[in-house]
Amino acid sequence: MLGPALAFVLCLSVSVQAVFPDDPKPCKYGDGECIMKLSNTLFSERSSAEEPGLNLVPLDPLKVDKLVISQGEDTSPVGITLTFTDNLLYGMKDQRIVKVKGFGKDLTGKHELRIVAKTFSLVGPYNINGKVLILPISGTGNSNMTMANVKAIVTFSGKPLEKDGEIFLDITNFKITMKPESTHYHFSNLFNGDKALGDNMNVFLNENAEAIYKETASAIDRSFSQLFKGIVGGVFSKVPYAKLFAEE
Ligand SMILES: *[C@@H]1O[C@H](CO)[C@@H](O)[C@H](O)[C@H]1NC(C)=O
Repeated sequence: MLGPALAFVLCLSVSVQAVFPDDPKPCKYGDGECIMKLSNTLFSERSSAEEPGLNLVPLDPLKVDKLVISQGEDTSPVGITLTFTDNLLYGMKDQRIVKVKGFGKDLTGKHELRIVAKTFSLVGPYNINGKVLILPISGTGNSNMTMANVKAIVTFSGKPLEKDGEIFLDITNFKITMKPESTHYHFSNLFNGDKALGDNMNVFLNENAEAIYKETASAIDRSFSQLFKGIVGGVFSKVPYAKLFAEE
């Protein structure tokens, strides 16, 4: 039993080292082009694996324990509480960073990643309550919320955090703004399993997907920001900032 486990661990550490060798460090401070290529390699080749050296969980599919989209502004025609529990998010292996700014020697600067993704699909159990463009909606079941051709901008700042004599980047003001070209919804078992009502509602949601997304975009951005802050923050809290980048 030890053999395969050991081989697995060795294999993982070799792969992390291949992507992020200790010495020489692959990218210089602020070298956006290099950081972009390195991250994209990580997404395309290593998304299904854990990367303990970088404190990364498997990214595709990404386990999402709980994600709440709560849109309750009075002036909006959409007022919903939509809770996803134990979902899987598919799509990160096909996402690509297209621009990187920041990550200079001064970690307190503003850091920015521009990302494009073919699809993000959030799949698993949901619970919804509220109203969508006047119509009441309620249900508990399984859902698939898919965003296609997403352009996302991730921004954050950093403040130095000292741990064991090393300086880590502590993430502040983390924000994601996502712009999908289109959004598709599927909710099974709406209205206590009333099939006619549920089918009609799914058609209605997809016919009005653009308007619905617009009304819920900031709530979606908020909850995805929380989700991704955890992931990005995990890397920076594990590896001292100076160990990530080489001097000029
Ligand atoms: C979710 O929906 C999308 C688009 O409708 C589809 O391509 C994808 O296969 C679905 N994912 C799952 C896991 O059902």
